[in-house]
Amino acid sequence: MNLYKRNLLTLLDFSPEEINYLLDLAAELKDAKKRGIKTNVLEGKNIVLLFEKDSTRTRCAFEVAAYDLGMHATYLGPTGSQMGKKESIKDTARVLGRMFDGIEYRGFKQETVECLAKYSGVPTWNGLTEKYHPTQILADLLTIREHKGHLAGIKMAYFGDARYNMGNSLMIGAAKMGMKFAACAPKALWPTEELTNKCKEVAASTGAEIVLTENIEEAIKDADVVVTDVWVSMGEADSVWEERIKMLLPYQVNSALMAKAKEDAIFLHCLPSFHNLETKIGMEVYEKFGLDGLEVTEEVFEGSKSVVFDEAENRLHTIKAVIYATMVR
Ligand code: CP
Ligand code: NVA
Repeated sequence: MNLYKRNLLTLLDFSPEEINYLLDLAAELKDAKKRGIKTNVLEGKNIVLLFEKDSTRTRCAFEVAAYDLGMHATYLGPTGSQMGKKESIKDTARVLGRMFDGIEYRGFKQETVECLAKYSGVPTWNGLTEKYHPTQILADLLTIREHKGHLAGIKMAYFGDARYNMGNSLMIGAAKMGMKFAACAPKALWPTEELTNKCKEVAASTGAEIVLTENIEEAIKDADVVVTDVWVSMGEADSVWEERIKMLLPYQVNSALMAKAKEDAIFLHCLPSFHNLETKIGMEVYEKFGLDGLEVTEEVFEGSKSVVFDEAENRLHTIKAVIYATMVR
């Protein structure tokens, strides 16, 4: 398997074998880290982390992965660089490509990360756009594999906003890995027909099943993995909260829903999550709408089926695998 110099813009570009290879590599790197074995094979290399949106996990995972691999990482945040204001993405890409050996981008538009990849000439990794969140899905797949032993045939039920980065990318990941995927949401929040058809095509060759449904009973039945994401994503207007809550409250992941999944089902969430009143936005939503948990209740989030912190840790190991695979010759 050779992924040297490849970009990671969406998992649509990767074969099931390549994804499996990245997961195996992530597991190896995780094991090495736990044993204290050094993996500083990229000493002397430098990468840049471009963030137009906030981040805890993705930024820290890229930074720690870079340091563990012996590299230096430069962080450029939402303010402070010329990108997009005084300088085009195309020019920025060509400048950064002369200085750095790899580029991570998190921001608003998938086209931006595609443009960076096209003009920089160095491996470019998508750290979240409005459309896709591929590094998150690798962590999710590794977490499922760790808890369930395998991926093929595992049923993943996703509740919530299924037409944004997480819904789209989970459907792609499930299709690639031969999983059963049910996205459960009001029709207006389903992935586009174009992406769904692409995933169904992939599914035809991997044995995956892709179902979009408004029917909660159908989606939760026999689910091995229950997943959700925030109802309003970064970059969306605050004004959409009211409508989104109305649309998605019936699809909240709570104990009653979890009880209908398989007895040994696990709960995943990419995080950050609104499950109590310990956040500024959670508190604001509570004051306006009177809800103390949104996409997931505190009981499920803190419950024994929740593996969200294993999942968060796996961001590090999977991102390290992506950097390693695309940068080590
Ligand atoms: N899951 C995820 O991408 O988290 P951050 O926004 O903290 O990077
Ligand atoms: N859908 C969320 C994912 C955060 C990791 C967002 O885009 O804000």
